[in-house]
Amino acid sequence: MDVIERINTRRSSRSFTDKEVDQDTIHQLITLGTKAATGSYGQPWAFIVIKDKSEMHSLSQEIKKYLLENIEDFPYFKQYENWLKNEKFDVFYGAPCVIAIYGKTSSHWCTYDCSLAAGNIMLAAKEFGLGTCWIGFAECIFNTWKFKIKHNVPDYYKLVSTLIVGYPDEKPQKPPKRKPATIFYEK
Ligand SMILES: Cc1cc2nc3c(=O)[nH]c(=O)nc-3n(C[C@H](O)[C@H](O)[C@H](O)COP(=O)(O)O)c2cc1C
Repeated sequence: MDVIERINTRRSSRSFTDKEVDQDTIHQLITLGTKAATGSYGQPWAFIVIKDKSEMHSLSQEIKKYLLENIEDFPYFKQYENWLKNEKFDVFYGAPCVIAIYGKTSSHWCTYDCSLAAGNIMLAAKEFGLGTCWIGFAECIFNTWKFKIKHNVPDYYKLVSTLIVGYPDEKPQKPPKRKPATIFYEK
């Protein structure tokens, strides 16, 4: 599959088989993530990988609880209140693996750099037959000192992207028609 086809057909995956993603594949994905461009060649990232199903379940419960208890601080998430209240809703959609990308806050460009790394991982994953989805819900817990201490992430890193990765058990839907790009042409 060439890169243009991969870009055109990538969709977020929200349903996965039980097949594990092996360590070598995860390592390759992260390495491909690190091939992204970085401001001043800073490469200001660090990655954590979570594959423990029970930890992911507890984290999903914790994220939903936190967001519901603090919904007034997250007005954007009000539209998802019913999802968050649903006992069965798993913010990680049963994926076998989470890759979280942290940026070193001493780097001026870390948010951009880590987002580019996430984009690389999402496109590269397709090549391995894997599906991904960026899980913005996770930020509220993955960026806490408690979570970072548990996962050996120093406090001078901030969470930029949380990606679920797994073998999709659904046929990828045809991408919806995108809005036409807003382009301001020169006069
Ligand atoms: C910054 C960001 C945060 C996102 N957070 C979530 C999320 O918490 N849960 C979810 O199901 N999808 C999440 N998504 C996926 C978007 O909903 C998805 O990319 C968008 O609907 C377009 O669909 P596509 O990826 O299939 O093209 C997120 C995507 C981005 C880029």
